[in-house]
Amino acid sequence: METPVGALLKTLNAVRKRTDFKTDICDHLETLFFECLGLECRLIVELGAGDGESTFVLERVAKLWNAKLVSVDIEDRKEVASYKNRHFIKMNDIEFAGHFKDWCKENGIEPHIDILFIDTSHLYEHTLREIEAWFPFLSARSKSIFHDTNLRKVFIRKDGSRGKGWNNERGVVRAIENYFEQSFDEETDFIDYKKGWLIRHYTHCNGLMILDRNRA
Ligand SMILES: C[S@@+](CC[C@H](N)C(=O)[O-])C[C@H]1O[C@@H](n2cnc3c(N)ncnc32)[C@H](O)[C@@H]1O
Repeated sequence: METPVGALLKTLNAVRKRTDFKTDICDHLETLFFECLGLECRLIVELGAGDGESTFVLERVAKLWNAKLVSVDIEDRKEVASYKNRHFIKMNDIEFAGHFKDWCKENGIEPHIDILFIDTSHLYEHTLREIEAWFPFLSARSKSIFHDTNLRKVFIRKDGSRGKGWNNERGVVRAIENYFEQSFDEETDFIDYKKGWLIRHYTHCNGLMILDRNRA
């Protein structure tokens, strides 16, 4: 029988292997895994499943915690994962936020999100609306993770290799700045603390911002 440590190591190896695919998020997969594993969670919500890189990690974290994973995408991304406790919702994420409470009730889930992962349009107005629509569902102790906080035409991975991005006019990071009423230099790695949130940022691979809150 597999021990919990054995399951964890096996999962970590699978996540590490996944980083061999050189994508715009590959450098963050291991970080995402450990960050999410460090918070006992019951409900993970992923906005933007895309080709399933983040889903690959989040479904494994959900499995280790025996948590539910809700993945939302406007495109049909049901098939990118196989975890039995993953619910895939094909809908605009802002629209789904409006139904989220009822949807949770219908599915016997408490509408308290422990981990919120956001990786959708990367546009300023939309990200503002995502924060406004989804943050009220966050648990007292929770983590919100944004990809593409340092999106630009060419991005650089940790190994020095480059990939093609686009100029979103700082859409994601500007929306986060609006929330915190503070500017951030997304071209640097930094740690900050504001409004009860620990804020950490990684520049490479289009940028990843991790916000931790503990209101308990
Ligand atoms: C960059 S991809 C996500 C990549 C994915 N997180 C990964 O790691 O492979 C962005 C996804 O967000 C979805 N999307 C864009 N706008 C959306 C919206 N308003 N609501 C839900 N999904 C949206 C797109 O269909 C696309 O699949």
